[in-house]
Amino acid sequence: MTAVDVVVVVDSVDDIVAARQAGRELAGRLGFSLTDITLIATAISEVARNIVQHAKCGEIILTPIRNGNRQGISLVARDEGPGIADVTLALQYGYSTRKGLGVGLPGAKWLMDEFDIDSKVGKGTTVTMKKWLG
Ligand SMILES: Nc1ncnc2c1ncn2[C@@H]1O[C@H](COP(=O)(O)OP(=O)(O)OP(=O)(O)O)[C@@H](O)[C@H]1O
Ligand SMILES: [Mg+2]
Repeated sequence: MTAVDVVVVVDSVDDIVAARQAGRELAGRLGFSLTDITLIATAISEVARNIVQHAKCGEIILTPIRNGNRQGISLVARDEGPGIADVTLALQYGYSTRKGLGVGLPGAKWLMDEFDIDSKVGKGTTVTMKKWLG
């Protein structure tokens, strides 16, 4: 398989579905179990929804990755929205600035093997997540 990135531009609710679907397809091709495919799709949904709700537009980049014999998938959600002032707070269950449940980011972190947020107020947010096979 060629390691081509899949890029999904996200600026509407429909794009959340498209990003989720692209994630299901790539994870399936990489050999993830149906359970893992669903977890990956759910994590993509949450970061895509955050782009639409908090930043208006951005993109999701899905990439096959490898570490020695281990294969995996990398999900990057990137936007140039308002940024997150306190990332530690944003990762707490129940924290939301828009009266949401505040479970999107902590939920996505819990579903994936690796999770990182790089955010600057006024500049934007990049969430990087990885899940490994096996
Ligand atoms: N891409 C983003 N740009 C700016 N702020 C963000 C972004 N993603 C998350 N945030 C901030 O982090 C907070 C927590 O995000 P999280 O997804 O956990 O909860 P939520 O989106 O408010 O509610 P929900 O449970 O519906 O997802 C948000 O309320 C928002 O303030
Ligand atoms: Mg959210």
